[in-house]
Amino acid sequence: MTNSTDTLAPSDMLTVRNVSKSFGRVQALRSATMAVPRGQLTAIVGDNGAGKSTLVKCLVGVHVRDGGEVLLDGAPVHFTNPQQARTAGIETVFQDLALVEDLTVAQNLFLGREETRGGLLDRRRMRREALDMVSKLAINVPRVNARVRRLSGGQRQAVSIARAAGFSSKLIVLDEPSAALGVQETARVEELILDLKSRGVTILLISHNFEQVLRLSDQVQVMRAGRTVARRRTSETDGQELVGLVTGAILDPETDPEAPAAATSNNETEPVR
Ligand SMILES: Nc1ncnc2c1ncn2[C@@H]1O[C@H](COP(=O)(O)OP(=O)(O)OP(=O)(O)O)[C@@H](O)[C@H]1O
Ligand SMILES: [Mg+2]
Repeated sequence: MTNSTDTLAPSDMLTVRNVSKSFGRVQALRSATMAVPRGQLTAIVGDNGAGKSTLVKCLVGVHVRDGGEVLLDGAPVHFTNPQQARTAGIETVFQDLALVEDLTVAQNLFLGREETRGGLLDRRRMRREALDMVSKLAINVPRVNARVRRLSGGQRQAVSIARAAGFSSKLIVLDEPSAALGVQETARVEELILDLKSRGVTILLISHNFEQVLRLSDQVQVMRAGRTVARRRTSETDGQELVGLVTGAILDPETDPEAPAAATSNNETEPVR
């Protein structure tokens, strides 16, 4: 990893250029290109299988990309596991949640970044801080001493979000953070996301819920069949247009390779700010 900052506009927290990834014959990402401006919330939308989770996993080191570039805060990065991404300041809530069932809520919250005192785990301190993280979210988790295997899907999601939100990070990536949540819990999660945004955290949010996307985001990146086919400022789009872009009923001539008048590649266009 280098610290060079000369390759990127200073306002972008994350830049993704021409990232590709195949699983055998499935080309999950085809030259995905995207900018995530600093301090803003960028939403990614797209149908099932469009490549959203794969893109996120390539960004944070779950998958190693086949090609392309990723810059975090101006510096090229190439993570080979999620812990490296966390150390570099990217917290991720994965769609397929990554909690350890046999550990407690508190242990999961501090997984991989345990507090120590005199060389020993400082369990009291972690429990206290865990309680603080969970209660700040006002989310309904029985006790921080409860094992995760006894939690509901929604409660597990809440713990994952609390973990991402509880540590200071440059970028928080949320892959469908409210998919398993009830109406009230979803509203709380949205409040938390807006709170993080107001604190200047850069957020990348994957959501199938267009109303949620329109409520929370500053810009929307549309993916279709592994490609990044369109970007819109949230204030300049609506649910109907997003549906059209996601399904391919609307093809953006500037950025969609399937549009008749499209440039051969969308890599030369400037990202929306
Ligand atoms: N580990 C994997 N092994 C093989 N194929 C995979 C793997 N992960 C994803 N794929 C394939 O890559 C494509 C993109 O999947 P991905 O999970 O990124 O979609 P998605 O946009 O997140 O969809 P959803 O909205 O359903 O979560 C799909 O065709 C999927 O089957
Ligand atoms: Mg997904």
